Amino acid sequence: MVRRATRPRRIRFKLSQADLVTATDARVERFVRSRLATLFPGDAVVGEEGGGIDRLDLDRPTWFVDPVDGTTNYVHGIPHYACLIALWAEGRLQLGVVADVARRRTYWAEAGRGAHAGQRRIQVSRARQLTAAVLATGFPPSRSFDRDDNLSEFTGVFRGTRDTRRHGCAGIDLSWVAAGRLDGYWEQRCGPWDWAAGALLVREAGGRVSTYDGSDWRPGDQELVASNGLVHDALLEAFADARRAAGLPPRPPRP
Ligand code: IPD
Ligand code: CA
Ligand code: CA
Repeated sequence: MVRRATRPRRIRFKLSQADLVTATDARVERFVRSRLATLFPGDAVVGEEGGGIDRLDLDRPTWFVDPVDGTTNYVHGIPHYACLIALWAEGRLQLGVVADVARRRTYWAEAGRGAHAGQRRIQVSRARQLTAAVLATGFPPSRSFDRDDNLSEFTGVFRGTRDTRRHGCAGIDLSWVAAGRLDGYWEQRCGPWDWAAGALLVREAGGRVSTYDGSDWRPGDQELVASNGLVHDALLEAFADARRAAGLPPRPPRP
């Protein structure tokens, strides 16, 4: 459906001019929700466009759906966006799927059964030092009015890395950490629909996914750091130093 709708229609702003939604986002989410309701009628669904986050209850089996992750890329004709679906049940992520629409490649992981790109098993990279690491990040749509906007973390870390990129699709960033293309990714203030599928991919590929204080990331947490595990502590230290120097609290507050 996303590929067929090559010209995004009915573009609207949500939180700011940096937060877009199109008719395709809404249509794809409605489709996924209707399939899930038929197949798993008892499960909860939390989606970016259709809501449910206010009733997030991790004691219930819950599906997380981001119909188009990377909507700004999609609207601008940059072929880098994905459909994301994940399942949380029995206290952990069970399933994560990232469909990279333009490249026709699907990344998927099941708890305890590894991470895959199509048929191929994937693994995180082996970089040990940030100086040899390529990272990715993103900046929240609230950046026009909130100074806790990830620039402190970015300036605190990027000079010490091989490079740090901003691709605009959290799901593919996390898939690329799982596939060993990137050594790490971090961001703050995303929804669980942005992160849940990719978080399982990274863990199943041998990496680590935490909050800024090093606890295991869970849906609902406001920040996420994912890496090959080897550069993780260095990243957490750099972010803590950067936030302290900027006079920001150790973790971003809920929006
Ligand atoms: C966005 C993308 C982007 C990230 C933003 C997300 P959306 O998702 O994943 O890379 O930086 O924080 O909100 O809005 O295009 O689904
Ligand atoms: Ca998203
Ligand atoms: Ca989206």
